[in-house]
Amino acid sequence: MEESAVKKIAVFTSGGDAPGMNAALRAVVRTASHFKIECYGVREGYNGLINDDFTKMGPRSVKNIIGAGGTILRSARSLEFKTKEGRKKAYDNLVKRGIDGLVCIGGDGTFTGAKIFNEEFGVKVIGIPGTIDNDIFGTDNTIGYDTALNTAMEAIDKIRDTATSHNRVFFVEVMGRDAGFIALNSGIATGAVDILIPERKDSIDDLFETFEKAEKAGKTSSIVVVAEGEKLGSIYDLAKATKAGFPDYDIRVAILGHIQRGGSPSCADRVLASRLGYGAVIGLMAGKTNKMAGMQSNNLVYTPFEEAIKKHNEIDQNLLKLSEILAI
Ligand code: F6P
Repeated sequence: MEESAVKKIAVFTSGGDAPGMNAALRAVVRTASHFKIECYGVREGYNGLINDDFTKMGPRSVKNIIGAGGTILRSARSLEFKTKEGRKKAYDNLVKRGIDGLVCIGGDGTFTGAKIFNEEFGVKVIGIPGTIDNDIFGTDNTIGYDTALNTAMEAIDKIRDTATSHNRVFFVEVMGRDAGFIALNSGIATGAVDILIPERKDSIDDLFETFEKAEKAGKTSSIVVVAEGEKLGSIYDLAKATKAGFPDYDIRVAILGHIQRGGSPSCADRVLASRLGYGAVIGLMAGKTNKMAGMQSNNLVYTPFEEAIKKHNEIDQNLLKLSEILAI
């Protein structure tokens, strides 16, 4: 085997946490150990790099965390790292410790920081996509997405019970600041009458048409799943407009919120996290940098941060069509 391009690495989690981040951390630490690379964990994302909050990690420091939600390293959205002075402090701490490679686990904000850091100081860095939103290009799924999807599905199933019992219309908001993946797939999985997502230009007229069709079909209750980033208006505006158009409807709003970020990761997320944690370390060892490790069609691939941040996974139009066909 060729000599590794890195000897001492550090790993951190940053941005919104996601189920499976711990499993990714475990894979990074144990892969590093397997290849005799020293590994440090950094607490609270970029803030830990700046504040010199490092801890030496080995296989036993990540025992029993594969199934744990959240991130044992904790996470943050660092404002200081957005400044050149902050990044310089972070760089000095890496130099002081002789760390020559970084693994960052997070979403597009995390990768934007990593890209700038690499360009300014030449620090070798590989990213692992960890976000429930699934809005990162270069991987079929992000770590945490599958778990969040199942959490949303289970919650909407429960809302369905009470909606049916009371003949109610429910607007349910799921997470996804800029992306409708959770909304689209949880909506299909729970038989939502309509799904509103930021990637599609939705109109109130289309929504009303859906309700009219549902009435004609004999439905006595309905669920509309709305992505947080939906552009038509807030979920309360939508409920209000619907009440004005259909005064007889008994309407309720439910916002699922941060429960979607918590919980024990699903099997799919644990396996994905394990593969990407391994992929990040062997990528660094092979001299790759400024790239994100991802899984596409079951293959480990590396996508430049630039592309991972700027490009977007397209919403599958067939799924949108399917949801309409099945919601009759
Ligand atoms: O990026 C993941 C995400 O969960 C988004 O879906 C959501 O908009 C955002 O984080 C919420 O962030 P915060 O925890 O800072 O409120």
